[in-house]
Amino acid sequence: MYTSKISGLGYYVPENVVTNDDLSKIMDTNDEWIQERTGIKQRRHIKKGDGNSTSVMGVKAAKIAIERADISKDDIELIIFATLSPDMYFPGGGVRVQDMMDMKTIPALDVRNQCSGFVYAISVADQFIKTGMYKNVLVIGSENHSGGLDMTTRGRGVSVIFGDGAGAAVLTRSKEEGRGILSTHLHSEGAHAKELSLEGPSTEHWVPEIIAEDPQENIPYYPYMNGQFVFKNAVVRFSEVINEGLQANNLTAADINMLIPHQANLRISQFVQRQFKLSDDQVYNNIQKYGNTTAASIPIALTEAWEEGKIKEGDLVVLAAFGSGFTWGSAIIKW
Ligand code: ACO
Repeated sequence: MYTSKISGLGYYVPENVVTNDDLSKIMDTNDEWIQERTGIKQRRHIKKGDGNSTSVMGVKAAKIAIERADISKDDIELIIFATLSPDMYFPGGGVRVQDMMDMKTIPALDVRNQCSGFVYAISVADQFIKTGMYKNVLVIGSENHSGGLDMTTRGRGVSVIFGDGAGAAVLTRSKEEGRGILSTHLHSEGAHAKELSLEGPSTEHWVPEIIAEDPQENIPYYPYMNGQFVFKNAVVRFSEVINEGLQANNLTAADINMLIPHQANLRISQFVQRQFKLSDDQVYNNIQKYGNTTAASIPIALTEAWEEGKIKEGDLVVLAAFGSGFTWGSAIIKW
C-alpha cells in the first residue's frame, strides 16, 4: 500500500504591495472597515509589465517546491493546477506550466474548485499516488485576481478581499504507513453556485450579450459574492469537514498541531479556532499580508508555516477550505 507525502513546498507573490490606504484612493473604502471585517492589511497585485500571470506565478512557486523535494522537473509525472483565474478561457494553466518548465509530455489537469481548489487538487494527486500510477505529482494553486476585479466603489465588497499569488507542493510516493496524507474529504452544494460566482463571459452570457447590456445595471464579468451568506455557510462547513477528517482517523481536535484554514477572512478562521479550542500557535493565518488568494491561499500559508519552523516531523496538520460552488474539503496529514 502506497501513501503520499508532501516532499516539497514553495510559494510566490508579486512584489507590488497594495495597502488598504492605496485602495481607499481609488474607491470609497477605508483601512478600518477592511481590517475590522476581514483582518486584511495589504495584498499583492500583479503590476502591468512585471511579467507575472497565473501560470507564471505557478511556475515560480513550483520551481521552489521541486527543488525542496530534491527531485528534478523531469521526475514529475502529473501536473494538477488549481485556479479560478487561468491565463486563458481555455486551455487551463497546467499545460502552460508544462510548456514554461520545459517538461516532458506529462499529463496536466486543471481543477476548478476556487477556494477549495488546492484541497481538491491534493486529494486527486493522493489518489493517483495511492493507486501506484504516479510517484511524483506537482500540485499548484495560483490566482491572478487583480486582473478581473471591479476596482471601483461598486465592486468594493469583493475587490478589497482578494489578492494575487501562487503556492505549490510536490506529492511523492511513500511506503511509510500512518504518515503523509492520511485522508481527504470533499463536498459540494451546487444549489448555492450563484452566491459566489462570476457568470460571464460564459456560454450562458456570451460576449455580444455582455456588450449589449448596460454596464451600470448588470455586470456578469465581475465576481459576485453574497458576503454574509458565504460567511454563515463557511463557518458551518469548515467545522463539519474538519470534524469529518478527525473522526475518520480516530483523532480529536486535541491532536491537531497545526490547522491551515483557507484564508477567506480572518474572522472565519478565528471562529473556527474558537470552535475547536485551538491556541494561536495551532492556527496559521497570513491573510493580513496577502488577502484571500483563493486556490493559492492554503499552499502559501502551508509553505510559510513550514518555513517558519511551525510544522515539524510527526505533527498532525489539518488543511480545510470552503468557497465558491459551494465546495469544501479537508486533508488530514501526518507530517
Ligand atoms: N469599504 C467600506 N464599506 C463597504 C465595503 C468596503 N470595502 N464593502 C461594503 N461596504 C459597505 C456596504 O455597502 C454596506 O453598506 P450599507 O450598510 O450602507 O449598505 C456595509 O459596508 C456593510 O456591508 P456588508 O456586506 O453587510 O458587510 P459584512 O459585514 O457582511 O462584511 C464581508 C462583508 C467582509 C464580505 C463579509 O460578508 C465576508 O467576509 N464574507 C465572507 C467572504 C468570504 O469568506 N469569501 C470566501 C470565499 S471566496 C471564494 O471562494 C472565491
